[in-house]
This record gives sequence, C-alpha cells and structure tokens, in this order.
Amino acid sequence: MNDKDRLLHQIIPLEYNLLLKPDLEKFVFTGEETLVCTVKSPTKEISLHAHELVIKKAIILENGEEHIAEVSYNKKEKSITLHFSEEIQPGKKKIQLIFSGIIGEKLSGWYKSSYNVDGKKKYLATTQLEQIGAREVFPGIDDPMAKAVFRISLLIPNALTAISNSIEESVVKHNNGYKTVTFSPTPKMSTYILAFIVGEFEYIEKTTTSGVKVRVFVTPGKKSLAEFALDTSTKMLPFYEKYFDIAYPLPVLDLIAIPDFDAGAMENWGAITAREVALLVDDKQTSAANKQWVATVIAHELTHMWFGNLVTMHWWSDLWLNEGFASYMEYIGLNQFFPQWHVWEQFSILDHNRAMGLDSLENTHTIQADITDVERVSEFFDEVSYSKGASVIQMLAEYLGEKDFRDGLRHYLKKHAYANTKTEDLWESLEIVSGKKIKHIATTFTQKAGHPIITCVLQGNNLQLNQTRFFSSSLSRKRSNDTTTWAIPLENLFGEKKQTILFDTKTMVLPMLSSWVKLNIGETSFVRTIYSQELYSMLQKPLEEKILQKIDRMGILRDAFDGAESGYASTVAALDLVKNYRNEDAYIVWATLSGKLGKVKNLLESEKSEKLFQEYARELFKSIGKKVGWEKKSGESHDDILLRSVVLSSLGMYKDVGVIARAKELFTKVSENRNSVDTDIRGVVYTVTAENGGKKEFEILKNMYIAEDLAAEKNRIGNALCFFEDAHLVKQALEFSLSEYVRSQDIGRFLVMSFENKKGRQVAWEFIKTNWETLLRKLEGHSIEWILEGVASVTSESLAKDIKAFLSSHPHTKLEKTTRQVLEQMDSNLDWLERDRSAIEKFLTERV
Ligand code: BES
Ligand code: ZN
Repeated sequence: MNDKDRLLHQIIPLEYNLLLKPDLEKFVFTGEETLVCTVKSPTKEISLHAHELVIKKAIILENGEEHIAEVSYNKKEKSITLHFSEEIQPGKKKIQLIFSGIIGEKLSGWYKSSYNVDGKKKYLATTQLEQIGAREVFPGIDDPMAKAVFRISLLIPNALTAISNSIEESVVKHNNGYKTVTFSPTPKMSTYILAFIVGEFEYIEKTTTSGVKVRVFVTPGKKSLAEFALDTSTKMLPFYEKYFDIAYPLPVLDLIAIPDFDAGAMENWGAITAREVALLVDDKQTSAANKQWVATVIAHELTHMWFGNLVTMHWWSDLWLNEGFASYMEYIGLNQFFPQWHVWEQFSILDHNRAMGLDSLENTHTIQADITDVERVSEFFDEVSYSKGASVIQMLAEYLGEKDFRDGLRHYLKKHAYANTKTEDLWESLEIVSGKKIKHIATTFTQKAGHPIITCVLQGNNLQLNQTRFFSSSLSRKRSNDTTTWAIPLENLFGEKKQTILFDTKTMVLPMLSSWVKLNIGETSFVRTIYSQELYSMLQKPLEEKILQKIDRMGILRDAFDGAESGYASTVAALDLVKNYRNEDAYIVWATLSGKLGKVKNLLESEKSEKLFQEYARELFKSIGKKVGWEKKSGESHDDILLRSVVLSSLGMYKDVGVIARAKELFTKVSENRNSVDTDIRGVVYTVTAENGGKKEFEILKNMYIAEDLAAEKNRIGNALCFFEDAHLVKQALEFSLSEYVRSQDIGRFLVMSFENKKGRQVAWEFIKTNWETLLRKLEGHSIEWILEGVASVTSESLAKDIKAFLSSHPHTKLEKTTRQVLEQMDSNLDWLERDRSAIEKFLTERV
C-alpha cells in the first residue's frame, strides 16, 4: 500500500477540534470540526476519509481568508475530496467542516446498543472505530500513521453521561436541557483508538498507586458487577507502567461494559470498551474460567496502552505488533497478580496450540502480512496475528532472557513513543539492548507462512533430526514445495541433561545422551516434533511417571494426533500413545486430549466404529472422572476447577450414564433455582442435559435464556440450545438466534455450536443456506467469519460437496479467506478418514 492511496501525501493532520451532537432518539448526529493540518504542497484538492457522512459545509482558512470547497464523494474509497477554486499553498492551515451521520445498528462506527431497565428498552450510543470506523464519525485522515491531538466535545442531554478518551475538562450547561462536555486534549494518537460514548451510565472508581483515576462504567443496575474489573485494572496499570518504565500518559482510564459488542474488548486509549461477559463478574454466577477471561481481557487491553496506542504499527500489515504483543504481554500481568492460575501453562493451549491449528493450513498467512486492501484487514485479526505472534515473542523472550527482553521492549517503546513502527524496529531494539542477533531466528517465523515439524529418529547412538513445514492436511503437504529452513532455538532434555542448540539447517545429528529424549522442553519454540516409534517407547516411563512437565506431556500428545491427521504417523499410534497417560491429572493435558479425541470422534460419526470409539473414550475418562467428581473440594486449585468441566463434559459426550443422570438431576434443581448449582459446572449441566434431552428441556432452556440478564449465563444456556440430538430442535435454536431475544453479537456462537453437534451439522448448513442474505445483513460490520467457522468440522462427503457448491456460487470478499481455510480442513478430514478408517476400526475392535 503506498502512501498516496493512504491519503498521507497531501496533508499532515496536527489537531482535530471536534464537537459532536448525538441524537439518541433519531439515532443520527451532527458534527463541527476544525482540522489543523500542514498542507504539504500547492494543491486545489484535498481528500479526507469520510464514509456515510453528509458534508454540509467545508472551508479552508488561509491567511485569515475563507476558501469554500466543493465536496465530491468517493464512495468506493470511503473518502471525500474538497475542491478549491484557487490553489492552496503549503503550510499550516485550518479546515472547517460541518457534517452529519448516523448512529447505526451494525457494531462498528458509531452505533446504538440496547439494555433494559425495569422492563423498558433503552439505548446508548458507542463507537468501535478499529479498523476504519473513524471515517464514519468525522472526516479526517483515518490511518494509523496519521497521529494527531484530539480535542473532543460532546453536546448531550443533561441526564446522560459522555465518555471519551481523556478526562472531562469542563461541562457547560445550556438552558435547553443540554450540556457541552469538553475533554482535555488527548496525546498524539491514531484515529482507530478514539471513542465517543453517550448514555445512562453508573460507575465506580479508584485511584492507582501511580495516581491514575480508574473508572468502570456499566448500564444502570450493574455496578456491583464491576468490582473485579476495577480492582484488577487498578492493580495492573501501575505494574505495566513499571514494567515498561513509561508512565501511562492520561489522567484517567475508563473501562466501559457495552451490552452489544462485536469483539471481546477494544483498547481505545483511556476508554476501553468491552462486552459485558468480558468485563463484569458476579461472584455467584461467573465461572472461574470466565473470571480468568475478564482478567485476561483487562491485561490485554492495558498492554495495548503501550503496544498499539503509544507505539503504533506503521500499517495494518504489521497488525501483529499490536495483537501478538498484547497476547503475549497479557500473561506477564496475569501471572503477577494471579499466580495460582498457572497462566503460562495455559499459554500452551490457549495461544501456542491454537496458533498451530490455523498455521498448519496451506491457507494460513505470514505474521508480517501483505495487506493492500484496507477492507480486508479484519480477516487478519486471527490466530496467526494474535497467537502465533504471541508464540514467536515467547520463543524470542526465552532466547533473550527476561531482563534483556524487557529492556529491549523499553528501548523500543521509548524510541518510538507517539510514532509508528515496522517489525524490523522491534528486532533492532532487542538486538541493540541484548547484543544478541535475533533477526535470523525471527524472520523465518514472521515472514514465512507455516511452521516446522521436526522428525526425530534414533540411528545407532545418534539422533537424526530433520525439519520441514508442517501441514495438517496430507493433501496440502503433497501439493506443497515449501523448502523453508527455520532457525529454531531448541532446548532439549535427555533424561536429566539439558541441551541448548540452534537448529538452522535442514538436518542435524545429535548424540543420544540418555535413555530418552524430549525436544523443545517447555514447548517454548514454535515447532512440532514427531518421534520414531522407538523414541516414543522410550518416553513411556517419563510420561507415565510424570517425570516430564505438564507442557511437555501435552506437546507430545498434540503432535502425535496432529501428525496422525497429516499422515506422518498413524491415528492408531496416537491412540496407543494415550495408554501412557493413565495417571495424568493435568488440566492442559486433558483439555488437549479431549480436543484431539473430539476430532477423531468427528471422523467416525457415520462409521461402524462410532460406538466402539465412544466406549474407548468413555473408559479413558472414567478414572479421572471419579477423581474430579461433581463436588468442589475444599482448597482445590483453579486447574482442578477447569479440569472438572473438561472431564465431565467429555464423559457426557461419550454417554457415561452416571454423568448423564447426575446432570439431569442437577438440571431440575438449577431450572428451579439457578444458584442451587455451582456456576463452574452449570455449563456442563446444561449441555449434557441438552445432548440427552428433548422438547421439554429445550423449552425450559429457551425460557431461561429469555429471562436471563447476565451475559455469561446466557452464553452457557445458548450453547446448550445447540446440542440437542433432535435436529428439529437444533433448527429451532438457530431460528431463535435470529429472534429479538438474541443479540446479533451472539448469532455466530449459535452457528458454530450447532456444527459441533454431529446431529446439528446438516440442519445448521441448511439454515445458513436458507438465511444467507439475512445473516450477511445482520452480521454486517461484525466478525462475519463466524458464519462459516463451524464448517471446518464436516466429515461427510455429501455435505462437503454441497457446501463447496454453495460457497463457490456465493462468493463474499470478507469470507474468501475463511472459505479457503474451512474447505481445506474439510478436505483434510475426508482424506484422513479414508486413510485410517480400517486401522482405527481394527484397533478399536481388538483392543483389550
Ligand atoms: N483490538 C482488539 C479488538 C478488535 C478485534 C477490534 C477485531 C477490531 C477487530 C482488542 O485488543 C482485542 O484483541 N480483543 C480481544 C481480547 C483479547 C483478550 C484477546 C478480543 O476481543 O477477543
Ligand atoms: Zn488486542
């Protein structure tokens, strides 16, 4: 993308003075703007980004003289051009504009969000400007590079609250019942992190040890749910200030819970907005997992105050500098304040493994992306930019050591404060400070798609290593001619001996130093490993006796199953390996195993061996199921709580009669009084009941959904609605998702969940086809990939055929990448089944 297309060539914005007047009855707004800018060269035309705005007046002030502009609209570019009759000379100028726009329904730009107070529906107005929503609110240069100072005023009714990035500087009451709220000037910042929020809000506040006022805003009646967020952010903000050695530059940090919100949360500088589930915590109703999510969201958005807001990517191609970093840095804050959650262990499944999932496809993308069409930036907010980005950072942080890594970040942030950077700037700071070369390690991971698999074979007294790009689909692997060699820092464990190497050649020979070996200890490098059968057998004892750490036990399992999918090894070998995990009790291992077995279950859904697999899996979960039980034990850990959900829901899914009976019993209790069942197992109770229930349970759940006000509980119930085995009920659930009772932000979840239900897949697909236009319309301005994400689990040939035919006749720009990805996954499923069908069947039949 060149600077000309980005409108960076004509003017440099310095300061925006914006007076915005939202009308919360007609859902429109008007605005008055003075844009102080430097005109770079003589011109009769100046273009500004603006979309769906009507410009009433545009003038430029030059030497005290007003030049009125004629305005033309460039719809496709989402910009306007001001045409002057005379040439404007270079220098500092003021452009004045009067305009109007709409407060819409889609969850971007300036939009309305609804909430209920005493049964009455009310509205607030809020913004979501990342990536290009700012041009729907005011004309300007809507580009991360065009940083400026913003002086914001909002003219609103006296009874309402206005929130923006900085603090209220003055409130002037007019005699017509309106007031003008003026905010102090912002730091020099990009447009996509501005926020304008108006509504009826309540808030609680606290001051950090470093003197920043922190406030959490909620819609009326929800103040008691804001305590955890306030406490967490007040603690974390000074922690990150110390970590980065840079003070937070605003006097205030607001966090605002918004009932209708597309993402989880948004890092507007000084005014973080979030979904209610991502911010509000009810001690009785919020599960441990959800509470962890809230803290994660806060930590993530807080780190953006530095990574993203203070130092911003030069262009969206380096989006990962924002999101990958925040996704890594969030763990540093979490670990500081919630050490009992063992978040670094969870990193391995929440980020590392998730990233590997997407990055194993041929249709993945490079971390440093090549984005020319700004309309397609939204596609890059994915597991590669976030989680692979975070994993590569983790790898480099390990390589550099904690202190050099932190000092390198400080150097980078200080050097580029209030400015923009490219990926190379980061490598440079890390290299300068540490004195270590890292570019050659970093670049193959950030500039090449995919990641390596290391195959490891024992030959005499040596290990023979070989690296090659990993594809989860053997079809993609066979098609590929990728010859990348990655420079991989590796820490290996031979029995008790640790060894550190840099594996930067295609093959390598290492002496076998002990009776067993595990490569990539701690799974801190972004690679996979497949061992020869012999080496796997040697790992039996370290696995069984848990001599290896949890993360390493998990990694071995993950790669064995993913290797099976891709045809490096057989599925039977992976299933056989599971025997070594009979004493396993770690959450991250069971969560991984449950996910991988779920994939095999999926494959077998219409096979003869389906029942046999069900028995096999049920037995596998039996003893850990007994161990975790249904009741909380006193003093049990966070991991145990998370483990219980995974184990019980797996047992339910594999039809354990005891678990089903208990779930149903608890369901009767909870449907009468929701507090009678512990919140951490409520999700399991709902889902297992649905999987084994009928019309009666469906109606109860649906009514619970409608009556429920707490978003977290609504999600649990909504998920369950998609898991009935009766396809008519799944269809009803999906139809319900389009009703007035379900917020458009939650429709995608219904679709994805229905695809997880094997009996739901066909109906879900029919539903998508029938409602294609409606879904596209309802999800406009949302993360619309949700519509297709579930399709990746399809394993039936006829359904796959129909999906392909439909998608090729219904192309949609914003779904193009997701379509390629889900189709690749679907083809891979079919190929995998074909390859291993009879061996799996044999294994399951002959198993003792
Ligand atoms: N900048 C994003 C929010 C966003 C996402 C805006 C997509 C526009 C499009 C924000 O910082 C973010 O990443 N939020 C995450 C939360 C997090 C804990 C990973 C989210 O919303 O899920
Ligand atoms: Zn983010």
